[in-house]
Amino acid sequence: MKKIFFLSLCAVITSSCIHFSTQNPKRLTKGREDILVIAHRGASGYLPEHTLESVALAHGFDPDYIEPDLVVTRDDHLIVLHDIHLENNTNVEEVFPKRKRSDGRWYAIDFSLKEIKKLSVHERASQKGDVVFKNRFPLNKSSFKVPTFEEYIELVEGLNISRGREIGIYPEIKAPAFHKSEGKDTISLLMNTLKKYNYHKENSRIFIQCFDPDFLKEFKRRYPSSSIKLVQLIADNSWKESPHDYDAMRTKEGLSKVSEYAYAIGPWIPFVLKEDLIKDAHSHGLKVHVFTLRDKKRLSELIERGVDGVFTDFPDL
Ligand code: G3P
Ligand code: CA
Repeated sequence: MKKIFFLSLCAVITSSCIHFSTQNPKRLTKGREDILVIAHRGASGYLPEHTLESVALAHGFDPDYIEPDLVVTRDDHLIVLHDIHLENNTNVEEVFPKRKRSDGRWYAIDFSLKEIKKLSVHERASQKGDVVFKNRFPLNKSSFKVPTFEEYIELVEGLNISRGREIGIYPEIKAPAFHKSEGKDTISLLMNTLKKYNYHKENSRIFIQCFDPDFLKEFKRRYPSSSIKLVQLIADNSWKESPHDYDAMRTKEGLSKVSEYAYAIGPWIPFVLKEDLIKDAHSHGLKVHVFTLRDKKRLSELIERGVDGVFTDFPDL
């Protein structure tokens, strides 16, 4: 009797999954092909960035990918956090007042995962160029937590099953050179997790992005047969995302070098508006995923210029 019940239960579950279309009902198209919508730090326009709540809401908006920025804890866990510091997004100064470095900052890498989990996450308090949302989720009174990369993956995959979708992941390793100087091998930590969830397999819905070309080139050297698409992010030099010259990277010669290891470039939006960067990238076989779209009016201009993907805080718009 039990066997029949179990088999009929499976039949119901499979049929209900098949029933839901895995097509995104709201595709952004530009005639030729679709433009990828990448949920920037989850649905960070509506909820504190990089929380599981932000990921869940983003998933409900049916983007193509959801982005986690990743840093490393003292005990080698990849956690979903934009900064290498903790004070901008968590109440670390309250919980661990004495654990700051001589520069007055609290570094995620100085804390175990167990300690990180004692913190509560709030809206970003201040950051260069980032939007700061005020008084939506009162600072330090929230129950939001810092997720691990594994918790993020399991939530996205669980929702893909329950909602019948195939939403992908788009991890960014933050400050690989800093992590290396602190004795962390971010490429191994990243790949070990991706293998655990089979994202290293052919045609997995994943991009790996980074500002640091050395990280991406090293990844390519270590995993020459990997089919994972790499994305070279392009910053303004003033942000000091890496020791590399991003102005040189945007020239035809620079793009030609990037095309040797990357599938796409991920430039800051102003660069594609004031330069022929998209055309030049396309002529080097590179796709272009721009960041960060927060003003819907800008979208048509980007589509006109031939953008292939957008990082946005508002994946529903
Ligand atoms: O990863 C694309 C975009 O998010 C890069 O800027 O500072 O938001 O990680 P940031
Ligand atoms: Ca990012």
